[in-house]
Amino acid sequence: MNKYLLSAADLTRDQAIEILDIAEGMADVNDREIKKLPTLRGKTVVNLFFEDSTRTRISFELAAKRLSADVINFSAKGSSVSKGESLKDTAQTLEAMGADAVVIRHSASGAANVLAHSGWINGAIVNAGDGTHEHPTQALLDAFTMRKRIHGDNSKGKALDGLKVAIVGDILHSRVARSNLLLLNTLGAEVHFVAPPTLLPSDASNFKAKLHYSLDETLLTEKPDVVMMLRVQAERMNASYFPSEREYARIWGFNADRLKALKPSAFLMHPGPMNRGLEIDAVSADSPQSTVLEQVANGVSVRMAVLYSLLSGERATDV
Ligand code: NCD
Repeated sequence: MNKYLLSAADLTRDQAIEILDIAEGMADVNDREIKKLPTLRGKTVVNLFFEDSTRTRISFELAAKRLSADVINFSAKGSSVSKGESLKDTAQTLEAMGADAVVIRHSASGAANVLAHSGWINGAIVNAGDGTHEHPTQALLDAFTMRKRIHGDNSKGKALDGLKVAIVGDILHSRVARSNLLLLNTLGAEVHFVAPPTLLPSDASNFKAKLHYSLDETLLTEKPDVVMMLRVQAERMNASYFPSEREYARIWGFNADRLKALKPSAFLMHPGPMNRGLEIDAVSADSPQSTVLEQVANGVSVRMAVLYSLLSGERATDV
């Protein structure tokens, strides 16, 4: 892996599997009583968050700390950005302070790429979500979670060949869907996008995904191995994309009846934060088939693996 993780497409199949394997080692560390490795001692990781986030920011913070890096959390609110300081000035300030890695989340699609190609920052850069574009570490933690559910302790070295994954809901505004599409294809899975036409991008037919316009029919006919529900991204909606929340929940929300329609081995994912009662109901979210909390826990291990791969320049034979 080189210095940047901007897109899920940056990873070859071998590189993706290697990160997931390193994350397996990190998960073992996270199960120990002392959850800490000295690997990144002396390195500085900056979390540069221009957009609200709970789990991704905390997850990166914990990941960096468990590798013994120094961590600076920078959020746009309460910083000089709210006084009008630009991305360039902010980046150059961090550079002057000696950041070895910058983890950036921004509401503008392409922000991480701008930072990477600007020359303002010499360190590693990780895209932690840019607008509606990409969120590669989410795709990695989702792939890790799928592998773990299927292969348990024998996950190392495995890809996701032939796995049928249905991604459901607000595809249009979802960087999670985009990064998952890329990584799942790299790992050999079969991707199905299931959404109302208003919530699919206009160029969706060019995607390497099968398109469906009915959730119930897809569950019945395709019998997916994995169903990934997406949050309705109300903050990115500047128009009306569906008649009402009630209508959306009825047609597109995951609920107890749809849970019964899943095949017994199938599982239900959601990147969080969930709109309970909208795209997923409480019975499904809290069911044994739900991987929501596993995804959160796995996120720390996967981000440790990503920071390790970008910053240590060595292979993780010692974890
Ligand atoms: C996702 C995000 O921010 O893109 N959440 C996350 O990273 N945990 C998905 C979402 O906000 O719906």
